[in-house]
Amino acid sequence: MSKKILVTCALPYSNGKLHVGHIAGCYLPADIFVRYQRLNKRDVMFVSGSDDHGVPIKLTADKEGKTPKEVATYFYHQQKESFKKLGINFDVYGSTCNSNYHTKTSQDFFKTLFDKGFFEKKSSKQFFDDVANMFLPDRYVKGTCGYCGAKDQNSDQCEECGKELDVEHLKDAYSIINKSPASVKDTFHWYLDLTKFEETVSQWLNIADTREHTKKFVRGLVSQGLVKRSMTRDIDWGIPVPLDDPDAKNKVLYVWFDAPIGYISNTKEICQDKFGNFEEYSKWWKDKNTDIYHFIGEDNTVFHCVIWIAMLKAEGSFNLPKGVIVNNYLNIKFPGKEIEKISKSRGSAVWIQDYLEDGGNPDSLRYYLTTVAPEKSRSVFIVEDLIQKHNSELGNALGNFVNRVLSFYKKYYGEKIEYTTKELNSIDKDFENSRLEIINKVGKLIEEYSFKQAQDSLFDFIRSCNKYIDEKQPWTSRKTDEAETKNTLIQCFNAMFTIGILLNPFLPFSAKKILSQLGISEQIQNSLTWQCAKEKLENGHNLGNPEILFAKIEDK
Ligand code: MF3
Ligand code: ZN
Repeated sequence: MSKKILVTCALPYSNGKLHVGHIAGCYLPADIFVRYQRLNKRDVMFVSGSDDHGVPIKLTADKEGKTPKEVATYFYHQQKESFKKLGINFDVYGSTCNSNYHTKTSQDFFKTLFDKGFFEKKSSKQFFDDVANMFLPDRYVKGTCGYCGAKDQNSDQCEECGKELDVEHLKDAYSIINKSPASVKDTFHWYLDLTKFEETVSQWLNIADTREHTKKFVRGLVSQGLVKRSMTRDIDWGIPVPLDDPDAKNKVLYVWFDAPIGYISNTKEICQDKFGNFEEYSKWWKDKNTDIYHFIGEDNTVFHCVIWIAMLKAEGSFNLPKGVIVNNYLNIKFPGKEIEKISKSRGSAVWIQDYLEDGGNPDSLRYYLTTVAPEKSRSVFIVEDLIQKHNSELGNALGNFVNRVLSFYKKYYGEKIEYTTKELNSIDKDFENSRLEIINKVGKLIEEYSFKQAQDSLFDFIRSCNKYIDEKQPWTSRKTDEAETKNTLIQCFNAMFTIGILLNPFLPFSAKKILSQLGISEQIQNSLTWQCAKEKLENGHNLGNPEILFAKIEDK
């Protein structure tokens, strides 16, 4: 029996709209991976949802005069809708603040670690805002990183070096509520001593599927020595710390403690809905026959590759992930401007909702984001390039190929595919071989998490289809040799069939259209597997109708 696969995508904070950086970071690569696995008939569970707790939601709520729950619920629905419209179809999209399972699952997890003695309760100094009379956890306080000198960093994590910045390591700290210097006060918290897990993390890292930059970064963290990190916070939004201790009163779990547990709670939810029994979740989390993959963006690395690994190990009953697939940041360049970071506050982003509402094609965005996927290093979204690639690679290379072959054949030879008795020549045979080769090649690259290369290879093949027609010149051979002409066009239909299947992970909407235009019914489409891409259309098969796949975008 083949293994089950559980794929998770980082739970986005439900305090804003989704932008192209989110999608390129983890949702699109995960969706490509999941679609591929489904085509290979693997039993896959695709899990995500919103991360509703923590300071980010609270800050947005404070600013908008709403409750955190209102903010989280609003953006939960909005983000869920954007994913759907991009063809990113999770089996479950849960919410950590509106869940039947999450509070208990996180509290039980915390209690297990507590009972096993993994927490150290200690008093420490925390930033405090004297005017607002409150502690300043995480993003409530900013300053300069004492490790690497990066300016304007939040205390939960330096964006440059990934370190947590406590009162000793965040310099010139100021409260973001009123921009005044932060003072310091004592408070109790429960710490997880990560030094105890250095060996676990190193061993896991050696066998885990991760990209090179991830291995390097995490090895670096471990070699500098891990630290103790507090798993509780002084704010009034989150999951209450489940301890009888009076010092735990009014404290909540650190959002980075409860959020990844959201993967588990959301799996319980889908198991309840789908199988009528939430306990089935353990098949996905505890069974040795399941491989777990987390897809995340680079700023989440320490939380998934160190803290989460330590949490899972400490808890003891869950499997460690087989892979953590991390993409780097995607920067952005608008026409006539410099490259900049995608930033919500400065408004420098392309928002998914706006793109789709303006009539943007979801597949064009998917295509472009994979061509610039920041798999090995940070990369740049160049707005004009999206349009250029839509027109040339999707419109001209892919769209025209499908359109011209279908129109041509139907015009001269009608609806039905009729194989001839004429033998294929060497150009045809080479072309047929390349069609069979591309299936394994793209599959292998996806299995290696090289989604960009996989898509690039597929489009090399698509370009070679156009070359094949240009070389065979059916519009010339038609006048003298019908069998030869039909041979050429039918080879192209078989290539289109292959493309229709292989394209599904990358451009699901267009893949479906191509198969429909070829005359493949929806029912048959749903039963196709990756290996079916090797097959040929049958003699007598009825073709569908050619339609424009990618309308040209004028550069405006
Ligand atoms: N909300 C976090 C972010 O947007 C990601 C949380 S991932 C999870 O950076 F594992 F904690 F869920
Ligand atoms: Zn730093």
